[in-house]
Amino acid sequence: METIGLFYGSDTGTTEDIVEKIKNTFSKEIEIHNIADSSKEDIEKYDKLILASPTWGSGDLQADWEDFENNLQEIDFSSKTIALVGLGDQESYSDTFCNSLSHLYAHVKAGNVVGKTSTDGYHYDESESVIDGEFVGLAIDDVNQDELTDERIEAWVKDIEGSF
Ligand SMILES: Cc1cc2nc3c(=O)[nH]c(=O)nc-3n(C[C@H](O)[C@H](O)[C@H](O)COP(=O)(O)O)c2cc1C
Repeated sequence: METIGLFYGSDTGTTEDIVEKIKNTFSKEIEIHNIADSSKEDIEKYDKLILASPTWGSGDLQADWEDFENNLQEIDFSSKTIALVGLGDQESYSDTFCNSLSHLYAHVKAGNVVGKTSTDGYHYDESESVIDGEFVGLAIDDVNQDELTDERIEAWVKDIEGSF
């Protein structure tokens, strides 16, 4: 399917707001789904995907994504194009900043993963989501750097739109 499927989880609503902004910034059609209400087949029907999760616990995926992880393992992402969005808090959780990206990445890395981003401008001690010097997706810290959120989304969408 040519339309982009965007699947997200959110405990306190921030990721939900971010994915709306992404949809409004994109020039192509995006269908947004809460992962809490989604099935494996819902994801499988899209060739182009955006997956978004905040980081909870100590570097974990958001709870609805954790519940969905068995499904993720069964999906064949190898012929799909995927972009990832992770949320986190680099001051309070400096050792596990945006680790949610790394969990999503582990499931989809057989596919064409686009939208890796620079770590410039973030201040944290450790993140498992940095591979070969880059975040494996868009890292948003709306707790400490909300003034940068819109420009980060705009730059990221510009970067990946051609791949979609
Ligand atoms: C109890 C708790 C644990 C958290 N753990 C992490 C973490 O390990 N790493 C991180 O980068 N952010 C962590 N965060 C920050 C959240 O990811 C951040 O607040 C995010 O914007 C929440 O998104 P949501 O409103 O969509 O649920 C944590 C926040 C709370 C309250």
